[in-house]
Amino acid sequence: MGWKTLDDMDLNGKRVLVRVDINVPIVDGVVTDSTRIRRLMPTIRDILAAGGRPILLAHFGRPGGERRKNLSLSQLVPTLERAFETKVLFADDCVGPAAEEAAEALQPGQVLLLENTRFHANETKNDPDLAAGMARLGDIYCNDAFSAAHRAHSSTEAIARLLPSCAGRLMQAELEALEKALGKPERPVTAVVGGAKVSTKLELLGNLIEKVDYLVIGGGMANTFLVAKGMPVGKSLAERIMKDTAAEILAKAEAAGCTIVLPSDVVVAEKFESHAPHQILPADRCPDEGMILDAGPDSLATIKAIFEKSRTLIWNGPLGAFELEPFDAATNAAALKAAALTRAGKLISVAGGGDTVAALNASGAAGDFTYISTAGGAFLEWMEGKTLPGVAALMQAD
Ligand code: 3PG
Ligand code: MG
Repeated sequence: MGWKTLDDMDLNGKRVLVRVDINVPIVDGVVTDSTRIRRLMPTIRDILAAGGRPILLAHFGRPGGERRKNLSLSQLVPTLERAFETKVLFADDCVGPAAEEAAEALQPGQVLLLENTRFHANETKNDPDLAAGMARLGDIYCNDAFSAAHRAHSSTEAIARLLPSCAGRLMQAELEALEKALGKPERPVTAVVGGAKVSTKLELLGNLIEKVDYLVIGGGMANTFLVAKGMPVGKSLAERIMKDTAAEILAKAEAAGCTIVLPSDVVVAEKFESHAPHQILPADRCPDEGMILDAGPDSLATIKAIFEKSRTLIWNGPLGAFELEPFDAATNAAALKAAALTRAGKLISVAGGGDTVAALNASGAAGDFTYISTAGGAFLEWMEGKTLPGVAALMQAD
């Protein structure tokens, strides 16, 4: 694919700087979703098995260049030790003498975790000097952080130019799975795009209509399109100032031969609360006091019928307020339909994004999807057809 993998590198006795994404959700010091950590295991296992010494470079949260105790990666050491089933040492900086000593002292079979790269303000500026400091710690650079590959930072981009570089197993798996589903996708292709805002996914929508046969729009974003079609949405989440843009996307889709699917009926409540009293109404009948919280049964039937006609499905963003019961109904039912079609060998299904993966896990559908990406932002940018700097740097590395 234009970059090297761990198989191309001589790892024996080498210190391998592995850029990982362990930006996992933590509540009261406890990791609530360890998907990203579990998915790193093949890379760590393979480096250790080949006699390499893994040194992990990672960011955590957005500390903005300040050392913030609550964003220290030290709190992840026990979780990593459990996952990797090996000793994980910690250095409290990702560059400098202490990190160099720790890297030097690392024994075969051990893993070294370096402190949050974003404690250095220059990390997010892709500073080559900071990258050079990191490069001193290793012999080889391995980027396994697909979900951070949309960032051109010292630890994802500049460093790949300084050391012999390769992609890790997760990076490979992510790119191969996305390439397989979207590179030359089996048609018809359907994309489900949900979530709150049109403004953040505008470029994505504009790009997708050129690539997919059906575009199912859900969540708050769908309301903006209903407004563009002159329908009332009451107190629903909607970006009214984006309505002309939404109208342009509708016109462009028609010209491109892409069918945009908006809700034909909606579940409306007056409060944004679990089990708020609600009713099902045609999409053009939302009352002034009403809030659209989910797609209705007619919409769901249309979505299921489209899934049945499709060969490839790409999913990012829930169809409704999935965090509130029962407004997760359309998301869950559509996810289970996609899972069943995938199980039956009729559909290739790929999903990504934190909310999406949480929703698919909650519905029990995730296990049957062809592929679940660990990435949110990077997955979207990949879908838009953008070059990811972290991936591009690997291609240019020798
Ligand atoms: C993520 O969690 O989406 C990645 O780790 C990237 O984080 P960022 O959006 O703070 O760059
Ligand atoms: Mg993000």
